[in-house]
Amino acid sequence: MGAAVAARRAVTAVAAEKIMDKLLIRGGKPLEGEVETSGAKNSALPVLAASLLTSEPVALRRIPRVRDIATMEKLLRYNGASVDVDGDTVRIQAATVPNPEAPYEIVKTMRASSLVLGPLVARTGRARVSMPGGCAIGARPINLHVAALEKLGAKIFQEHGYVEARADNGLRGGHVKFDRITVTGTEDIIMAAVLADGETVIENAAREPEVVDVASLLTRMGARIDGAGTSTIRIQGVPRLGGADHAIIPDRIEAGTFLIAGAITGGDVLVRGCAPEHLMATIELMRQSGSSIECGPDWMRVRKNGKLRSVDMKTMEFPGFATDLQAQFMALMTQAEGISFVEETIFENRFMHAPELVRMGANIRVEGRKAIVAGVTPLSGAPVTCSDLRASASLILAALVAEGESVVDRIYHVDRGYEGLERKLAGLGASVNRVA
Ligand code: EPZ
Repeated sequence: MGAAVAARRAVTAVAAEKIMDKLLIRGGKPLEGEVETSGAKNSALPVLAASLLTSEPVALRRIPRVRDIATMEKLLRYNGASVDVDGDTVRIQAATVPNPEAPYEIVKTMRASSLVLGPLVARTGRARVSMPGGCAIGARPINLHVAALEKLGAKIFQEHGYVEARADNGLRGGHVKFDRITVTGTEDIIMAAVLADGETVIENAAREPEVVDVASLLTRMGARIDGAGTSTIRIQGVPRLGGADHAIIPDRIEAGTFLIAGAITGGDVLVRGCAPEHLMATIELMRQSGSSIECGPDWMRVRKNGKLRSVDMKTMEFPGFATDLQAQFMALMTQAEGISFVEETIFENRFMHAPELVRMGANIRVEGRKAIVAGVTPLSGAPVTCSDLRASASLILAALVAEGESVVDRIYHVDRGYEGLERKLAGLGASVNRVA
């Protein structure tokens, strides 16, 4: 058997093994201790794509080793960039970009691959990006990205499931007003506009900390951006960008997940290396529901402070309550006294954790975009199946407080966005084991 075939079989075998991994969790132990926050996955993805905008080397630090990042690194290599991973530092150099394309095989595993659309058009004048299929939580179209790029002068047509974009004479500054707030849509357009000829104004821009993080990297590379983090962003195009060395922000969703883990198990958890100012809506609501949460400049401490009380929650764009913490918060509300109305305003199908929580004993009724959670319901360990990244976190949180053992299946969903979750939970005293 040739070496290449053997290597491919080895990789496939590992991949298959990963697919079959499960977590065995024995619930009932209050989590106690300290946990370190990794870099933000949803910041790492756009800043990796931004490295396509320059022929100079870019060093990115605090990049979490999660599956979606590995997918983006594979895509950048496919485009022609050199990508060297050294722990949580990734060094990229797109000296040339001979292959400005994001193929279906890669995009179907991670829709955030569409983040290379803007950079590829800006750098090379063309891009061929597979349209992302939907995913578990919704259709996930990129029509807003495409419409905005056309405002910058790109000629775009769609065929065979691909978006083809051309800007033979380069992009020119334009006025973009998003019909609805889109995080990666805002990031895509910022990355297209920084090399466009003239000024671009983006209205109804996303205000997420990850958008601000991309803008701060681009500014380090020589871009001229004002207003990142507000709803109106102004960009003066420049002829070229240089390299940079940039450490990304901590992962607010991971940090929020650990806050909820401490609260749901009635423990005492110190989350280090985080940015509490990125989580104020979550902290505020958890305090209202009865948790004690202290904050420092880069840490948060959650402790039990009597019984939990139900509170209503509605997901909103930043600075509102993050949709990526909705599933985790719903698990918490199963342990709170009273009725909690949870409303999901961002995605059309983001309650898939609910029926699995019900199988563990929760009392949840879903009506369209609203879920009604009645607590307190004792949870009992059960075999449960992950459907998407954040639903997985919700089931794991429930298993930590459930009586007995839970078997959480298809945890490759967890590996997409949490770096060493089982190791970090075990470090807080949880009884959790990964089995193939
Ligand atoms: C980003 O996704 C995040 N992913 C998501 O995190 C997060 O849930 C989401 O923002 C909302 O905060 C990354 O940053 C890589 P959107 P994104 O465009 O940009 C609709 C996780 O768990 N829409 O802000 O894809 C869209 O369908 C992931 O880490 C269009 O209709 O989200 C959704 O209903 C999940 N047309 C709404 O807008 C478009 O062209 C907001 O989506 C774009 C979006």
